Amino acid sequence: MQPPSGDTFDDVSGITNEEPVIKIGEDRDGPVLELDATEWSVDALAMALRTNLEQWPQGVSIWIDHPSGETDDLLTRLGFEIQRDLFRMERSLPMEQRTDIETRSFVVDQDEEEWCQVNNRAFAWHREQSGWTPELVRERQAESWFDPDGFLIHHREGRIAAFCWTKIHESETPPIGEVYVIAVDPDFHGLGLGRALTLAGYQHLGDSGITRAMLYVDADNTPAVTLYRDIGLEVEVVRRLHQK
Ligand SMILES: CC(C)(COP(=O)(O)OP(=O)(O)OC[C@H]1O[C@@H](n2cnc3c(N)ncnc32)[C@H](O)[C@@H]1OP(=O)(O)O)[C@@H](O)C(=O)NCCC(=O)NCCS
Repeated sequence: MQPPSGDTFDDVSGITNEEPVIKIGEDRDGPVLELDATEWSVDALAMALRTNLEQWPQGVSIWIDHPSGETDDLLTRLGFEIQRDLFRMERSLPMEQRTDIETRSFVVDQDEEEWCQVNNRAFAWHREQSGWTPELVRERQAESWFDPDGFLIHHREGRIAAFCWTKIHESETPPIGEVYVIAVDPDFHGLGLGRALTLAGYQHLGDSGITRAMLYVDADNTPAVTLYRDIGLEVEVVRRLHQK
């Protein structure tokens, strides 16, 4: 759920010494900027954005970490609308709650099609997470972090009923373990599978030596946020998407 990162442009005002940056990437909607509001004075941010936004007359998305009323007002003045908030939730591992639910590893060249069907049913309401194709899964499989043993599949009634796809961010210190995608087929909601698969994912990460857990979740995804809070994850960062 994170926008991709690419180039950066530095604070053009020179007002702060922290050398704040705005990362530039791209997603399916076009150019994406990312910045941390705590690194910027509002005046410096206004100048940096006004100077640089002209290069994307077609429209642009801006993710702001730690947004405030001031950044909301600035982006509104620049013609943006707030689209949604994401929470980055974190906690330490291991967790107090445990599970012994049975899972198996994702099988490359076997599970792609069925996994996409389950994922797309579970996320039918979600703008980015729905619409996965086997080709997109294969693109992820080609990435250095992909590990089929960290992609847990649970079966019920002879089909994939739930899954938890984990990812280890080796570049962070210490490395941090993410529940990257987790879902339960809507036929099996409310049976405890979401809790069990989330715990299974973090147990797998803990068993791999990971001591810090994180994930991203839409702030208005009440079932998921309630579950995550219940297993001890806390909101560390609010990321707000502005678009025009
Ligand atoms: C979120 C999701 C994984 C929960 O799975 P589930 O199997 O239905 O949930 P569980 O039965 O394990 O419930 C575990 C806890 O989640 C919370 N929860 C589940 N459904 C809820 C709902 N409709 N409203 C509020 N809280 C809810 C509760 O805290 C619940 O604990 P409790 O049963 O002790 O009250 C499932 O709704 C899903 O697949 N949603 C679509 C995909 C998605 O949003 N994934 C998360 C993206 S970050």
